[in-house]
Amino acid sequence: MVRFVSAPMGHSIDVRLDALTSALPCAAGAPATKTIAGCASGQTFYIETFGCQMNVHDSEKVAGVLLGRGYRQVETPEAAHLVLYNTCSIREKAAQKVFSRLGQFKAGQDAGKLIGVLGCVAQQEGEQIFERAPWVSLVCGSASYRKLPELLAELEGGNRRVTGLETDTDETFETEMTRRDHPFRAYLTIIEGCDKACAYCVVPFTRGPERSRPSPSVLEEVRQLADAGYSEVQLLGQTVNSYRDPSPRRMSFAELLVAVAGVAGIRRVRFTTSHPRDFHAEIVEAIDAVPALCDHVHLPVQSGSSRVLRAMQRTYTREEYLEKIALIRAARRPVSVTTDIIVGFPGETEEDFEETLSLLELAQYDGAFSFKFSPRPNTPALALADPIPEEEKGRRLAILQERQRQIQTARNETLIGQTFEVLVDGQSRKEGQWAGRTSSNRVLNFTSSRENLLGNYVQVRVTRAGPNSLVGEHVI
Ligand code: 5AD
Ligand code: SF4
Repeated sequence: MVRFVSAPMGHSIDVRLDALTSALPCAAGAPATKTIAGCASGQTFYIETFGCQMNVHDSEKVAGVLLGRGYRQVETPEAAHLVLYNTCSIREKAAQKVFSRLGQFKAGQDAGKLIGVLGCVAQQEGEQIFERAPWVSLVCGSASYRKLPELLAELEGGNRRVTGLETDTDETFETEMTRRDHPFRAYLTIIEGCDKACAYCVVPFTRGPERSRPSPSVLEEVRQLADAGYSEVQLLGQTVNSYRDPSPRRMSFAELLVAVAGVAGIRRVRFTTSHPRDFHAEIVEAIDAVPALCDHVHLPVQSGSSRVLRAMQRTYTREEYLEKIALIRAARRPVSVTTDIIVGFPGETEEDFEETLSLLELAQYDGAFSFKFSPRPNTPALALADPIPEEEKGRRLAILQERQRQIQTARNETLIGQTFEVLVDGQSRKEGQWAGRTSSNRVLNFTSSRENLLGNYVQVRVTRAGPNSLVGEHVI
């Protein structure tokens, strides 16, 4: 079964990059992987990705670099000469996964294989990975991907301890070729790293400082994607709306959104993740003015208590956050809002937690990703006193998720009877059953008597609603 990835930054979803392409035929017009004439090395690689869309897209670019060097992608680690894990360390559980993967290799049986750890765990653990798993040959954080060709050349030359661990870079990772794995939605990083300093978060440490891509380079890539048949693009960044155009054009984020939406052939533009501090009316005005800008904003709040927000170093209060929500709710068309919430941050009292619950009622989110606080290395929160017991974190999380489930059910039920345009991106084994996404990023499962709908935009009337998805029928 294919699972499409649609979670915002940092949500641990395992994605096997090979899964999408092997399960779905390349849609009409979507670019197939280029075949490299005269395969230089004849080597094969396997890459598995953990974590956020940013990682998923980084893996696409890494795969592009490898394909450009004559490597061929295979679908299992067993079949590969080079095995890469692109890792996530946002919460402890995610970080542990890579070590369980690495533990599966056996000295004798896997001799001759090259194993690499990329991404946030690589940056966080550094050379210690060689000690924990001596069969690893490459450890490379995302801020060093620019150097990948050199690092690969070292590996190919026989060096068995290759590292790329600098984060003090002002460069972004752009590649001549990107192997895109989602057949209908193209990801595009516009800003890398993070300059905020949220007390719980490893990202500023693992991904380095914010670096924005020049707007002409972003727009050129969007034009190429449109030419290749993509009609939906998703602009990525840990704090995507903190984008600062380094080119002389000095486009604001909202101006860039409008320019991307204006590229011929582009029908849908998404962006994630927005930071509340840099979320301004200009973005909502752009959404209102340009139908191709999707009606969805992911705006992580993290807590509903101003006291906890201050301890988290989030740079806004509950009231200031709610003003941003009011801006979005005042848009001329309904814009769905989703969020991220952490429960059990050190020192969070029952009253603080109640404030988060009351914020849920006020904000009326269309979706929320919620997590128990997980202490991470190299983060300021590690030094905070008053940890909340795991059991209590679990209790708060369950209450919050149940409350949010009720809100989502009620909100989705109001959509019954309405018709939405969906981009069809999934097909069930059962005949006549399809899945797509609305502009508001809701999953809509529907029936249709038509064939070959994958990759098409169709009108679907909602007949039923659950907390996490809608059911409907194709309006022909
Ligand atoms: N513990 C729990 N959740 C975290 N997140 C980030 N760091 C942590 C942590 N240490 C959550 C935040 C963020 C999302 C990507 O992951 O909610 O928005
Ligand atoms: Fe982490 Fe905060 Fe930066 Fe998001 S804004 S990546 S939560 S430090």
